[in-house]
Amino acid sequence: MAILGILTVPNPLLARKCRAVEPQEFNDDLRRFISDLAETMYAAPGVGLAAPQCGDLRRIIVTDPGNAKREEDENGRPTNPRFAAMCNPIVLETSKEKVIWDEGCLSVPDFSEDIARPRRVHVRWLDEYGKPQQKWFEDYDAVVVQHEMDHLEGTVILDRVSRLKKGRYLQKRTRQKVYAE
Ligand code: NI
Repeated sequence: MAILGILTVPNPLLARKCRAVEPQEFNDDLRRFISDLAETMYAAPGVGLAAPQCGDLRRIIVTDPGNAKREEDENGRPTNPRFAAMCNPIVLETSKEKVIWDEGCLSVPDFSEDIARPRRVHVRWLDEYGKPQQKWFEDYDAVVVQHEMDHLEGTVILDRVSRLKKGRYLQKRTRQKVYAE
């Protein structure tokens, strides 16, 4: 297992739409990558991580809104109760009711903002063995899944705030980089 590097804005890979995981890709390599992604999420620490944040433009996310210490089985697979690894997730249905959460992102350091999203979301995905799964997520769990799925479309939280706030943040980031070099 390995801890992967996490890209930050304005890296152009974070703005790309990801491609589906193909049927022939559900093999040990994919499972190793998902395990690395999970390890990277727990190490950060974070409650979710999407493959493009590590430069892999495939529709893969890992989430653990419990953000507990990583627990694993004999194969090194996380066994935390709220952990999920999803390939090709799609939203089947959402509630009309919204929930507002102060969201942050490992790819957008030192930034958080209130974002409104559906309070409940029904998601279907393929697990790391290519087996279909589906589940309703609620409240914070729903927020985390939707946030990670945004990454697969090349959307980060900065794209969900006002242009003024986005512009200010990116300007500050660029300035910090110039001084750091
Ligand atoms: Ni994020």
